[in-house]
Amino acid sequence: MIFRDGLFEKKVVLITGGGTGIGKSTAMEFAKLGADVVIASRKLENLEKAAEEIKEKTGRDVLIRQLNVRQEESVRDMFESVKSEKGRVDILVNNAGANFLSLSEELSVRGWNAIIETILLGTFLCSKYACKIMKEQEEGGTIINIGATTGIFGSPFALPSATGKAGLEGLTKTLAAEWGRYNIRVNLVAPGVVWTEGFVKNVGATEALLENIRRNTPRGIVAEPEDIAWAVIFLSSPAARAINGVTLIVDGGHYFAKGFDISF
Ligand SMILES: NC(=O)c1ccc[n+]([C@@H]2O[C@H](COP(=O)([O-])OP(=O)(O)OC[C@H]3O[C@@H](n4cnc5c(N)ncnc54)[C@H](OP(=O)(O)O)[C@@H]3O)[C@@H](O)[C@H]2O)c1
Repeated sequence: MIFRDGLFEKKVVLITGGGTGIGKSTAMEFAKLGADVVIASRKLENLEKAAEEIKEKTGRDVLIRQLNVRQEESVRDMFESVKSEKGRVDILVNNAGANFLSLSEELSVRGWNAIIETILLGTFLCSKYACKIMKEQEEGGTIINIGATTGIFGSPFALPSATGKAGLEGLTKTLAAEWGRYNIRVNLVAPGVVWTEGFVKNVGATEALLENIRRNTPRGIVAEPEDIAWAVIFLSSPAARAINGVTLIVDGGHYFAKGFDISF
């Protein structure tokens, strides 16, 4: 165990998109550390499977809630229901996201909106309703947004995703400054490529791409979902009490090293 046993005991942690990939892994790692975990997304079957898996591995019950982060009513109802069931929300992980590849000149408004709304509107709405609960808590709370290195460096053929993730930088810094008064910290974790089913499906990724990323990353380390979870856990922990409004890149150094062509 990397973190102290029971580190998040009595803490309610809500993870959007917590039924799959990085979100599921983050839910699992928080549960191992004693957190009271809630996972929420559109597909109940994914949430149910994830909750079963977490219970099996950690012995902890996980609350599941159906949620569409693009709809304010759905977000509002979900937070109300979690508040009435758990009484509080200590940590929110805005992990729900979506992506697909397209030539930017062929991109439809519908496609643009679907991704921008999931990333930006979704993160805004969940943060807004989490704040209403956290600001009433003496201990305040912590919000971690999941961005992407594509928001910093750009990503050809993934315009709405790269634009949305870049927008999360401004959202994170703004809320970090504004909600300090409520004792709420807001930070951003920006993964590079993480080999999840969602990633492989969304961008049609192949083993050759993985190999290429490995070759262009110092020490050849491509982050696993757990690597992202541990970054989220660190930023949510008391060890990060003085860290607010930052972006923590978790990509093994891939984007910085790429320019030097380390694969000679
Ligand atoms: N994998 C990577 O290489 C990578 C790199 C950088 C950043 N990220 C970010 O990491 C996060 C997780 O990605 P992942 O790789 O783990 O992919 P994933 O498994 O596809 O996760 C995306 C999650 O978002 C949920 N979601 C999508 N639209 C939603 C909506 N409207 N309302 C509520 N939930 C919604 C999905 O659940 P439902 O379908 O059940 O709604 C799903 O659980 C995303 O924000 C992604 O952009 C991933």
